[in-house]
Amino acid sequence: MKDTTSYTARAPDSNGYIHYEPSEHQVWETLYHRQFALIQDKACEAYLIGLDRIGLSPHHIPQCKEISEALKAYTGWTVAPVAALISFKAFFDLLAHQIFPAASFIRRPEELDYLKEPDIFHEIFGHCPLLTDPAFAAFTQEVGRFGQGISPEDRKMLARLYWFTVEFGLIQTPNQPLKIYGAGIVSSKTESIYALQSPIPERKPFDLLTVLRMPYRYDALQKTYFVIDSIERLYNMVNGQLLEAFREANALGILSNPHEIHDAAMAQDYRSC
Ligand SMILES: [Fe+2]
Repeated sequence: MKDTTSYTARAPDSNGYIHYEPSEHQVWETLYHRQFALIQDKACEAYLIGLDRIGLSPHHIPQCKEISEALKAYTGWTVAPVAALISFKAFFDLLAHQIFPAASFIRRPEELDYLKEPDIFHEIFGHCPLLTDPAFAAFTQEVGRFGQGISPEDRKMLARLYWFTVEFGLIQTPNQPLKIYGAGIVSSKTESIYALQSPIPERKPFDLLTVLRMPYRYDALQKTYFVIDSIERLYNMVNGQLLEAFREANALGILSNPHEIHDAAMAQDYRSC
């Protein structure tokens, strides 16, 4: 991700309320209607249940306070508005405390289909529904906890785990065909179709060591997706296992990926999505 942004974080007033212009609510409404229709048959069941739980309005940009109240009831998480870009260190610290950092601006109409920075539509529509799921919330917190005590280089490796799961993960269960759970896919018009239907990307079973070593790009559609078979199993795979996995991954080194020309996690120290 680029380490500068043309967007400015929106500061809450003394009551914690962020004011948006009518034109900004219109952008939300357009994005919401379009994406809600698109993901009905593409998002995993836990996401769709979570979307219902947080009760978003199609008509206006939600306030973090409203979303926090809904999340707290299910998993104890809250959402806090942050600057458009924050470091991995600050990001993982917040996750460890069950606080999801959310960019507070919304994209401009001319960037409706794609922008590199995470905006509030991506943060709330993409991420928050699954944070009502206890196993997914526990997985996200475990990533944050582990990220608190590691070196900057290992934080970049942890960013790959986050990228290929929370942002760009797919799921296929015995009872459910291939579906989306990653926020970067579920909030994207183009990628929500491409990730499931395009013949171009590889779709591999999730393997922790491979994921930790896999380069990724933030500025193009993904060429590799990792498929889990259950959120609970994803959590169990990392819970208490990350120290050893990082040791092994460091010894083996980064994978060479013919599809990727560089590794975003190694290129910068900011979260990408
Ligand atoms: Fe994200």
